[in-house]
Amino acid sequence: MIGKHGITVIVAALLLGSWSVLAQSQQVSPLGNSHSPKQPPGGNPGGHGGPGGPGSPPGPPAPAFGAPLSGLTSAQLADFTDGLGDFQEVDTPDTGLGPIFNNTSCVACHSVPAPGGGSPIFETRFGQLINGIFDPLIALGGSLLQQFAIDPSAQEIIPSAANVFAKRISTPLFGAGLIEAIPDATIVGYAALPKPDGIVGRAAMVVDVTSGETRVGRFGWKAQQATLLAFAGDAYLNEIGITSRFFPHENAPNGNEALLEQYDAIADPEDAIDPSTGKADIDHFADFMRMLAPPPPKPLSKSAVAGALLFLSVGCATCHLPVMVTGPSAIAALDHKLVPLYSDLLLHNMGSLADGIGQAAAQPSEMKTAPLWGLRVRGPYLHDGSAGTVDAAILLHDGEAAKVRNRYSALPSTLKQQLLAFLDSL
Ligand code: HEC
Ligand code: HEC
Repeated sequence: MIGKHGITVIVAALLLGSWSVLAQSQQVSPLGNSHSPKQPPGGNPGGHGGPGGPGSPPGPPAPAFGAPLSGLTSAQLADFTDGLGDFQEVDTPDTGLGPIFNNTSCVACHSVPAPGGGSPIFETRFGQLINGIFDPLIALGGSLLQQFAIDPSAQEIIPSAANVFAKRISTPLFGAGLIEAIPDATIVGYAALPKPDGIVGRAAMVVDVTSGETRVGRFGWKAQQATLLAFAGDAYLNEIGITSRFFPHENAPNGNEALLEQYDAIADPEDAIDPSTGKADIDHFADFMRMLAPPPPKPLSKSAVAGALLFLSVGCATCHLPVMVTGPSAIAALDHKLVPLYSDLLLHNMGSLADGIGQAAAQPSEMKTAPLWGLRVRGPYLHDGSAGTVDAAILLHDGEAAKVRNRYSALPSTLKQQLLAFLDSL
């Protein structure tokens, strides 16, 4: 488990960009004593090369947005490239698209500023909330609306029984393999630590369909999936309308099985394993996302360094935990790496900011702390894109974040600018 002191040391080292400090520090083994850093000092943990602190040799430049992790083998690079190809492939009714769907390829919604990014494209969720109990209206096609259909007569509508609606913006996938490789115990351990400002946070325990195991969810605005393969299958079905071995049943338009029967011509699962590779499309998507490099940080300006300290002192870092460490991984580039994601991956009660949708382990009032790495290529901000600026996104924090938000809003504007400069460099 990462102790508070360990976090402070790691944060300080990150800010100074001095990996040699980390390599020599006792605090670098927060997850057990067996781990010795696999990377030489001045290396590039998690692909997140710092600006190079005093005395440390300059590390290799961090891979650009959309590039693979550094340190992959040639076989892994080939898997990444194959996966990228599938991620960009456009489906049609002949390849299984629909009958109802939101778009025709993964990259259609994950493209900014490079394939694997986010985008300002939204989807809509709906359901019925009565006395705080959320009903996803599954029999009526909820909770995700599919906005398109291969035939107009199969088009979904929001049923009149729905009384909550939430927009969800597409999230970036940079560094997703590092997030996947963080051990459940790290997230659960941090959840158990007492926190200041009335902040609690809890791990989202979900059943991972790919293994049948109960795991800590970490992907999606509600931490609804624990693994990239599960999310790939979920997205292939629910965004594109393609069934796979983990999600073998098509969505019936607003629950209408007769309509489904009429327009679902292709046998399920549509995404079959190719005997020559032993992989289906969802495995290729997962390969690509797993080996996609994290956002390259910008060198910190003087103002940003001051902002980093404000980020800690105002209390943002309690939820936007600056760094976690991966566990063992068969992919060396993911094995025991620092992950400067700026999230605890926990669900927090966010009061008026929450979206009112219950999903997987998340209550209607809970949202997962959004990772802040790569924030400068995102926007509009928050799950529903309701904040046009980072400042507005912070001011809309509520619930468990209310005290921290108030501290931020009381800062003089020069200090706010410093904090924003820091966020712009992650
Ligand atoms: C219609 C747009 C759209 C398409 C097409 C789409 N996505 Fe997404 N994706 C989203 C949205 C919106 C979210 C946030 C969903 C949420 O949490 O409610 C998301 C989130 C994700 C996440 C979670 C990222 C994180 O860190 O939280 C993964 C992984 C993902 N998508 C993979 C895929 C894959 C693989 C495909 C192709 C099979 C795909 N997506 C197709 C819109 C899309
Ligand atoms: C109680 C935990 C908590 C605290 C404290 C907190 N945040 Fe957040 N933050 C969240 C959650 C949860 C989200 C996702 C909210 C949503 O969109 O529903 C979020 C989202 C954000 C976003 C939007 C990210 C995006 O991709 O759109 C920014 C920017 C942000 N926080 C910055 C900050 C800053 C700066 C502070 C300190 C002033 C802070 N947060 C304090 C939990 C917290």
